[in-house]
Amino acid sequence: MEPMSSDTGAPRPRLFSGMQPTQDSLHIGNYLGALVNWVCMQEEFEAIYCVVDMHAITVDVEPELLRARTRATAAQYLAGGVDPAQSAVFVQSHVAEHAELTWILSCLTGYGEAGRMTQFKDKSTKTGAEGSNVGLFTYPILMAADILLYDAAKVPVGEDQRQHLELTRNLAQRFNARYGPTLVVPEPHIVKDTAKIQDLAHPSAKMSKSAPAGALTLLDDPKVLRKRIMSAVTDTGREITFDEEAKPGVANLLRIYSALDGRDIPTLEADYQGRGYGDLKKDLVEVVLAVATPYREKTMAYLNDPAELDRILADGADRVRPIARATLDRVYERVGFLAARR
Ligand code: TYM
Repeated sequence: MEPMSSDTGAPRPRLFSGMQPTQDSLHIGNYLGALVNWVCMQEEFEAIYCVVDMHAITVDVEPELLRARTRATAAQYLAGGVDPAQSAVFVQSHVAEHAELTWILSCLTGYGEAGRMTQFKDKSTKTGAEGSNVGLFTYPILMAADILLYDAAKVPVGEDQRQHLELTRNLAQRFNARYGPTLVVPEPHIVKDTAKIQDLAHPSAKMSKSAPAGALTLLDDPKVLRKRIMSAVTDTGREITFDEEAKPGVANLLRIYSALDGRDIPTLEADYQGRGYGDLKKDLVEVVLAVATPYREKTMAYLNDPAELDRILADGADRVRPIARATLDRVYERVGFLAARR
């Protein structure tokens, strides 16, 4: 992948992350918990950002909708500031090695170990045994393959992915212990202040694509964003103080505000002393729109030129495929597969 080195000529450590194209728009949790960090880290790291379309078919989705959302997700990476000249942006299904490594890692994963993944338990409880599928069960193994294929040192994600990262590390260590040093054991990169943005309507739950009523979906109409913020659940009392136990709703609004506007939370508390929740919300609307408006415009510009977007994605896949192939060749050799003629 070019360019591979920093100004000093030393190769930059590699970084990998991805998002599922399961909605038309990212929400502010995806944006603050992941995308903002991706953009900050792309100078220091050789970054690879993937739209994980294979993960997205663990739930039923219309093929045309999946295609549209795959492009929309890639467009939002770019609109948020991922620079395709610097970082590789690609679609998971364009690099067949993801599925191939998943098989090898599946054979190293305990059945009980996969069953302990809390996201699997949550999702399969919601859908019931009938709606659940084996792909949902092996989902974290595909995620481990995504990361391990690229020898990624760091993986910037939100708090909800911590357990999947732990599994990835365990699988890498297990492979290395059994077959000799082969895979890089990655570190999660989870930024505490923004790793868990809560639902605006239910501040005790994580903001999630599956509960749009409490989410700030960035491509939504400004009127919708305004309404969601103005009707966000706050707490009893009137003072604007950061107290996650007693005032989780206000604390969540302050976190979002601080992350977008740059003022730290104590400064915001001081600035809003003696003022009410209504003032805080009204100002937060402006802060959110100042980010969402150019983000929406840039996303639309990419989506209006699908040929250019597809070219960026094809280039990204071309850049990362040799890295993935080299890792898989190493893995196949270690496992004891006969070398194939190429
Ligand atoms: P996904 O698509 O659900 O979410 C994308 C990213 O957004 C973060 N996130 C949040 N951060 C803070 N507050 C929230 N409320 C919030 N909701 C979501 C997620 O932690 C994630 O970083 N399994 C992954 C996708 C994936 C992946 C990978 C990630 C597949 N392969 C390899 C990293 C590396 C997922 O479903 O993310």
